[in-house]
Amino acid sequence: MNHLTIQTAGIENLPYLRKLISHSVRQLQRDYYAPPQIHAALELITGLEDLILAGSLLVAVVDGEIVGCGGWKIDLSVSGSAEIRSFFVNPHFARNGVATTILSACETACRRLGVRRLYLSATLSGEQFYTKRGFSERERYQQHLSTGDDFELVRMTKNIERAENFA
Ligand SMILES: CC(C)(COP(=O)(O)OP(=O)(O)OC[C@H]1O[C@@H](n2cnc3c(N)ncnc32)[C@H](O)[C@@H]1OP(=O)(O)O)[C@@H](O)C(=O)NCCC(=O)NCCS
Repeated sequence: MNHLTIQTAGIENLPYLRKLISHSVRQLQRDYYAPPQIHAALELITGLEDLILAGSLLVAVVDGEIVGCGGWKIDLSVSGSAEIRSFFVNPHFARNGVATTILSACETACRRLGVRRLYLSATLSGEQFYTKRGFSERERYQQHLSTGDDFELVRMTKNIERAENFA
């Protein structure tokens, strides 16, 4: 894979990101969920525009093409805590460290913002990635979808070190 850079997503990237996300889940979730579940679970992918407007959605770019995204949302109800959100990689670039690079950049940004604890709801297709990146399972649960389908997710958390260790 050619050189990868990390950039902050702009609102102009939104239409492209929506296509990337749809492509990503249809390909990379198919070993973990049935096709109707994957289709219906697209409704769970919300808040992309808010992340972009907050400046907290990052994209990985290779040769001018966005190949993945991921971001964070500061939890205003729990001090020092943020939710990792919207990690999706173009299937053609999967298993090349794209999500790892985006997550590292998110963690660096979160540390600088005083975040000490990250949490997320992982898909079964993302679980092994997050485990590899130091997240621990807290709970498995079934998310009820509007179609009546259930969609299994895993609540995971990770404590991150203080910002001064990463100056
Ligand atoms: C989960 C996802 C973001 C991972 O992106 P990625 O760029 O392929 O991940 P990386 O290459 O950085 O993976 C790093 C490590 O995580 C683990 N990992 C990643 N994907 C894995 C998979 N499908 N199965 C097993 N381990 C996996 C591996 O240990 C991998 O290292 P390796 O390739 O050297 O073995 C990507 O598969 C994806 O977009 N999935 C569909 C959307 C989705 O479910 N997103 C998660 C929402 S919570």
